[in-house]
Amino acid sequence: MNTLRLALTKGRLEKKTLALLEQVGMDCSELGTGSRKLIYQIPDTNLEIVLAKAADVITYVEHGVCDMGVVGKDTIMEQGHSFYEMLDLGFGKCRFVLAIRKGDDFYGSYRTRRIATKYPKVAKAYFAKKGMDVDIIKIEGSVELAPLLGIADGIVDIVETGSTLKENGLIPIEDIHPVSARLIVNIASMKLYKDEVFTFLGKLEETV
Ligand code: PRP
Repeated sequence: MNTLRLALTKGRLEKKTLALLEQVGMDCSELGTGSRKLIYQIPDTNLEIVLAKAADVITYVEHGVCDMGVVGKDTIMEQGHSFYEMLDLGFGKCRFVLAIRKGDDFYGSYRTRRIATKYPKVAKAYFAKKGMDVDIIKIEGSVELAPLLGIADGIVDIVETGSTLKENGLIPIEDIHPVSARLIVNIASMKLYKDEVFTFLGKLEETV
């Protein structure tokens, strides 16, 4: 049986992905021990797990060095190109929103609005669809700071509980897209290891 390599997004999605794998009978006890190891063989299976940052999960799957990956729809929308998105895993649920400072009138003037975001492609596409010209400012993290510091009129970001927005005096004014964790598969792996991939997908599907 061919070994399948699965790239997992470290951080927010990691725990829930490992819980799902445990649920389908895989012993993931070596992971989640706080170890800095990045590649794990799951005992008594043909599955190898690689831990990576979200954007790198996509890179590894697209290049075929990993056959499959678990990554958020947010990262897929921002930088996904060529792979199969096979399964909505149902966890890691949040949503893309447009948020502004409470009390601001976002549409109140004709000047070009400035939008801060970690997701420039998503933000650009959203405003293009509305036929609205905006300036996009790429921010690497804690985007909520941008309107508070006065560098942007609004932010496009993911919101889960809403507490980061709330604690910083921001409010969501438009929902852009729902987000959750997805299982993606490399295009060649889907052909070469079809049986193995579908066996694995079948197990996940039964559980989610
Ligand atoms: C994400 C997002 C928000 C926050 C929303 O950031 O960009 O800042 O989570 O979560 P909430 O609605 O539950 O408060 P993340 O924690 O990934 O950190 P970062 O901004 O530093 O990238």
